Amino acid sequence: MSVEILPTHTPRHFHAAVERACDLLKRGEVVALPTETVYGLAANAWDERAVRRIYEVKGRPSTNPLIVHVADGQMASDCSQDWPDLATRLASRFWPGPLTLVVPKSEKIPAGVTAGGETVGVRWPFHPFMQAVIRGCGFPLAAPSANLANQLSPTSAEHVRAGLGERIPLIVDGGESNVGIESTVVDVTGEVPRILRPGMIGADEIAAVAGAVARGGEGGSVLRSPGLLEKHYSPRARLVIRSWIDEADLVRQIGELGGVGEEVWVISHTRLPLSGRISNVVMIPAEPEAFARALYAELHRGDQAGARLIVVEEVPVSGDWDGIADRLRRASSGG
Ligand code: TXA
Ligand code: MG
Repeated sequence: MSVEILPTHTPRHFHAAVERACDLLKRGEVVALPTETVYGLAANAWDERAVRRIYEVKGRPSTNPLIVHVADGQMASDCSQDWPDLATRLASRFWPGPLTLVVPKSEKIPAGVTAGGETVGVRWPFHPFMQAVIRGCGFPLAAPSANLANQLSPTSAEHVRAGLGERIPLIVDGGESNVGIESTVVDVTGEVPRILRPGMIGADEIAAVAGAVARGGEGGSVLRSPGLLEKHYSPRARLVIRSWIDEADLVRQIGELGGVGEEVWVISHTRLPLSGRISNVVMIPAEPEAFARALYAELHRGDQAGARLIVVEEVPVSGDWDGIADRLRRASSGG
């Protein structure tokens, strides 16, 4: 199968791509679409068979539930048998945007979407293309990130093509994802919102709306927080997080890690090691929004160039960096 890649950079292209995507989705197909966080692999959320295709295409374990994407409040409440007040408060502040709310599921949601669980993750994305497709379809879209299971999320159409190009009929190119890491996932089924997966909407911002916030899945229950599974956001290369005093220190640490020549990639955000002793070094911005936007593209670039070791400079310990630190920790192979 040769994948169709449609651009969206003029109104004419945009509308043609919406029409094509809706056409395929209404027929139960799975297509890759841009969102502001990362690209999604979308299918009709009401259609059990279409949803099953998502798991096949990704090679995703059926124990890991999907996020359902909506484009208005009615669609969101259709996903839940009992839409919590807390969800309304958080949604009115952060939607459309990079926030997923875990709520009690409605009967309309097939068991395949939630991996058999009683809750469903719902998100109203900001990206105008994704919104237009959801409205055009008239049904919500179940969509995980558009990558093979255990690989890095895509932030461009090219990333999707490289990973899934042989397996899906359509990729819509909506430009580079503006947020760059996956949404913040918050369980709002209890009194206090619980962050299951940190993201660029931080704990402080959630607490400012909800009065309080809790972190982490409960008791490590697989169904409640499968996103906490290790090996979920990894490049193929070994990734380590390090800080260094100066370039000599960095070179020494790379040596200790067994890193050799061209196979080593360094991603820094404070100082660029420029002596030439390390051939692949890139500096990305030291401001969290811009760092998140750039990170996955650099990891993909390293993978594509055949990197064996990626050294990422340690990021600050601060609320603004929580989502980034979480992804780096999961992508890292320890050591
Ligand atoms: O930004 C995003 O969230 C992107 C875009 C495409 O919207 N989607 C995404 O989907 O990252 P995925 O499937 O790669 O990650 C969804 C995460 C997983 O960690 C999953 O376990 C968790 O959300 N999740 C989904 N439904 C859940 C539920 N009912 N309870 C707990 N966690 C849930
Ligand atoms: Mg994913």
